[in-house]
Amino acid sequence: MRISSLRLQLLAWVVLPLAGLATINLWTSHGNALATADLVTDRMLLGSARTIAERVAMTDGVLDATIPPAAIEMFDTGDRDRVYYQVKTARGRLLTGYPDLPEAPKAPSTEATFRDQRLRLLTFSHTVIGAGADSPITVTVGVTLAGHDAMVNRLWLSDFTQQLALVAIAGVFVLLGLHRGLAPLIRLRDAVRSPSRNDLDPVKVPGAQSEIRPLIDALNAYMERVRAQMAAQRRFIANAAHQLRTPLALLSTQASYALRESAADQRQEALVALQASSGRLARLAEQLLTLSRAEPGSRRPRADRIDLTEAARHVLETQAPAALARNIDLGFDESGPVPVVGDGTMLREMIVNLVDNALRYTPAGGTVTVGLAASDGEAVLTVADDGPGIPADQREHVFERFYRLGDAAQEGSGLGLAIVREVVENAGGRVSLADGAAGGLVVEVRLPLAGG
Ligand SMILES: Nc1ncnc2c1ncn2[C@@H]1O[C@H](COP(=O)(O)OP(=O)(O)OP(=O)(O)O)[C@@H](O)[C@H]1O
Ligand SMILES: [Mg+2]
Repeated sequence: MRISSLRLQLLAWVVLPLAGLATINLWTSHGNALATADLVTDRMLLGSARTIAERVAMTDGVLDATIPPAAIEMFDTGDRDRVYYQVKTARGRLLTGYPDLPEAPKAPSTEATFRDQRLRLLTFSHTVIGAGADSPITVTVGVTLAGHDAMVNRLWLSDFTQQLALVAIAGVFVLLGLHRGLAPLIRLRDAVRSPSRNDLDPVKVPGAQSEIRPLIDALNAYMERVRAQMAAQRRFIANAAHQLRTPLALLSTQASYALRESAADQRQEALVALQASSGRLARLAEQLLTLSRAEPGSRRPRADRIDLTEAARHVLETQAPAALARNIDLGFDESGPVPVVGDGTMLREMIVNLVDNALRYTPAGGTVTVGLAASDGEAVLTVADDGPGIPADQREHVFERFYRLGDAAQEGSGLGLAIVREVVENAGGRVSLADGAAGGLVVEVRLPLAGG
């Protein structure tokens, strides 16, 4: 059985062992009570026997045994015990008392059954001066066990109540302590639940213990992260909407222009422009989609084993027509397979964006070279061009979403490098920008090589 309540759990952990200990303690204290009662009864039996023995004397040449009342009355403790006695001479002649009372050794007393009653018995022998062969006499005294048992119970009961009280008090204190100890957790719960709280504001729980404070700190840190993420998301959506609005407005203007135009060739011209605009819009939508897919947590993380060389070759084949159209010398510098682990689609998307940038921003007739190598346990992908490059102070900014260089003549959405960085970081790598040997830009991507 599992106990899900902390209170019950702690109560069980404290009170059950304590109750177990108390039980063991009670068992030993019962033994002690028994030993004490035995000892007291022994003393009384011995005292009684001795009192009787001392009264036995020779009167007029005859052994005479008179039982002094005190020897019997000393057992009168209010428990209605019966006392049996017997006085015999050394030769076995009964002087007085019950003839069939069994004899017992001198202390400690023994238990025996007499006339269907349990007795404690003790026999005491005593020399009577002048009694000749009748001396020593033996005196046996027995007493029923009511007083003895009552004493055991009295001694033991007080122990029992003490132990019970101890366990109960411990339980109460555990509950009280828990109530106090759990109070900050309850306050934390109320603080998080409180409808008056502004969303994701840090919670404050004054008086929280050192065990609970890390939980509160972690919660606050987590909410801070979520808040930052939500803010970024909001910014992104606002930006995206803004970016979509401009080309959509343009599209609408171009459409009205085409509608108004009656001359066939001018209408044709307007339609071509409209088609180009819608193409750019489609590209923007595609880039937005790719970026949202590249974000961590948007797809099930994939860990395919990808040959980057193969992926790059595939990208170059698809980009070859664009290079040809602008008379750009698109080269591939590789030396065999370079395996990495990651999301294949996203890694290809990353290469597409780098090659696309190089082709787009390099003037017609330029050179773009894609290089792939494995070094120091890393896959190194470089995309070098001899275009205008990116000024050093802009190199951090171009990775931001929607950021484009002011004088960028080419159309673009400003999302390509943001996608590149997102993909590279998800794959555990890093990306950097540098100057090319003959001017232009060199983008270098380093990814961990797949082992084995
Ligand atoms: N190879 C390059 N040479 C010169 N400038 C570059 C190069 N690559 C990128 N840039 C600059 O960095 C900016 C950001 O590039 P990014 O790829 O993020 O966006 P984009 O190319 O404008 O749009 P998208 O790729 O989303 O269509 C570009 O606007 C461009 O000015
Ligand atoms: Mg780009």
